[in-house]
Amino acid sequence: MRAVVVEQFGTPEVLQLRDLPEPLPGPGQVSISTGYAGVNFAEILARSNGYRVSGLPFVPGLEAAGLVRAVGEGVTGLQVGQPVVALLSGGGYAEVALAEAAQTFALPDGLELRDAAALPSVLPTAYALVHHAGRLRAGESVLVQGAAGGVGTALGQVARLAGAGRVFGVVSHPDKAAYALKYGYDEVFVGEDFDRQLAEATGGRGVDLVLDSVGGDTWRRGVASLARYGRAVAFGNSSNAEAWSSGFADLAPKALSVSAFSILGLAAADPQALRALTTDAFALAATQGVHLPITAEFPLADAADAHRLVESRASTGKLLLTVNP
Ligand SMILES: NC(=O)c1ccc[n+]([C@@H]2O[C@H](COP(=O)([O-])OP(=O)(O)OC[C@H]3O[C@@H](n4cnc5c(N)ncnc54)[C@H](OP(=O)(O)O)[C@@H]3O)[C@@H](O)[C@H]2O)c1
Repeated sequence: MRAVVVEQFGTPEVLQLRDLPEPLPGPGQVSISTGYAGVNFAEILARSNGYRVSGLPFVPGLEAAGLVRAVGEGVTGLQVGQPVVALLSGGGYAEVALAEAAQTFALPDGLELRDAAALPSVLPTAYALVHHAGRLRAGESVLVQGAAGGVGTALGQVARLAGAGRVFGVVSHPDKAAYALKYGYDEVFVGEDFDRQLAEATGGRGVDLVLDSVGGDTWRRGVASLARYGRAVAFGNSSNAEAWSSGFADLAPKALSVSAFSILGLAAADPQALRALTTDAFALAATQGVHLPITAEFPLADAADAHRLVESRASTGKLLLTVNP
């Protein structure tokens, strides 16, 4: 089968198309003939610095949609030929991907494979951030970093459906602000002085919930922008900053809470909890009209171009690799 392989960490050029033996499912696994593979920021980190990768060489790719190709021992409820979508621990940038049956889902009602390929990482993450880690209550306000990206466009919609009062976003360019406004945001701030713009928009009160994927100074300024009893959830570190810590002195004056969420961490720690989360999240796409915009598609051989586009910070929504549509 053809697959995109990383043989050394580095710039997008290290993504090389190779012929590899087809992976066969072990107990509790299925193999999937990949139709489409989603592109995630975490794969850029995996390629450049080995984030959550066990060693070289490896095939990146955390999500795929396609047809079940083979079923491993002990797997029930999935049949050869069935259209499915899966969260993977890697290997999605390939004609055949291996998935745990527990993280493989029947195509949600009314969705095409192409739409479904955009969901497995982004939508459960957005659901967990809003409902579980962020514990958003109706009427509360939210601030989301990276509002025009994959997780960002999902978060605007999920927060809105959860009854958020005001949904604020932050992006790096005015074009992205206009884009994010179509996905649930009331107001989108451009640039690094988002905290000043937010203070103005809220009359100095701040927000109830900050969802931060950038880290570093952006995280600190987000926490400082919380209203009394506010919560901040870290879910990424796209600025590549040092790990954060918050102590009593930072949190006590306004009785703030901070937490963090990782879908890959949850997949490793508690696959059944992730399955339940994913089922709840996919229902938003099947029945509530949550839609992940797919803004660009690349053939498998051009995976490097997809990575370049995300790294240029010019991308919006979700990017897909079209493997075998
Ligand atoms: N914790 C989890 O379970 C989980 C799951 C999925 C994704 N994530 C995280 O969520 C974030 C978004 O992921 P995604 O896959 O949906 O990607 P994405 O949002 O489509 O693209 C990356 C985003 O990061 C922002 N960004 C900030 N600094 C950047 C930099 N130096 N280079 C490139 N982009 C930068 C960009 O927005 P601006 O240019 O507007 O700032 C862009 O929206 C990432 O940090 C990712 O690691 C976490």
